[in-house]
Amino acid sequence: MSEIYLNKDCKTKIHKFYAGDCNFLKGPERIEKHGIIVIDGIDWNYDKELVQKNLEHSCRIFDSDFKTVSPLPEVISELKLIQNQIAILVKEIFSTYSYERNGHGIGYRPMVTGPEWMHFDTKPIDKMALTCYLNLDTLPRIYKISHTFPWLIKNERKAMRKLKKAESFYPVTIRANTIKNKGVINNKTPKHTILFDPGTIWFFNPHMVSHEVVFGRGAMGQSWWVYNSKCKTQTELMEKL
Ligand SMILES: [Fe+2]
Repeated sequence: MSEIYLNKDCKTKIHKFYAGDCNFLKGPERIEKHGIIVIDGIDWNYDKELVQKNLEHSCRIFDSDFKTVSPLPEVISELKLIQNQIAILVKEIFSTYSYERNGHGIGYRPMVTGPEWMHFDTKPIDKMALTCYLNLDTLPRIYKISHTFPWLIKNERKAMRKLKKAESFYPVTIRANTIKNKGVINNKTPKHTILFDPGTIWFFNPHMVSHEVVFGRGAMGQSWWVYNSKCKTQTELMEKL
């Protein structure tokens, strides 16, 4: 079971489920309230040992490209199996969404990742993104989750207005300020901590929920653009300021 350590001063919601509950997830509703959905205990049908054995030991530096060696053909077959199972799961959980994959790759992240800086994903900021990751490793993948973009709009109005005035590319500027420890997200910002179990999958909108990988050794990530969501984009939220 994944372990979740909540910080009472961080209002970002974490919705944790066990595999059998999947039909009752109300995925869109939970994602649109800017939370993160965590599902433990799914009985994935692929060769876990083979995939785990082929994870890489190289590190990915935060913000660098995802450069990996090409996986072996037998590993690719297993990853495709996982990809198909994720597609079925997404169809079940987000049945009311009209969506398409962002990119055509397998979304294989076999390298050691973290520590990162707290951030919102970038590019583009005017579309609703849905992202999931599945922990392929034998060790937990550790994340910290902090404020949502709407929370910052509501509670850090002055700073966000300043950001708007600067006409900067908001997520990049927020992160640059975080690195300097002087932004709307800094060292003192409350954070939840999650240790995602091996085999656990989690869904969120990375443009709305700030996140950082503390440590992880191998994951599979998939992303979609959602076209009929009520979720406001960063651009729309900033326009209302
Ligand atoms: Fe990210």
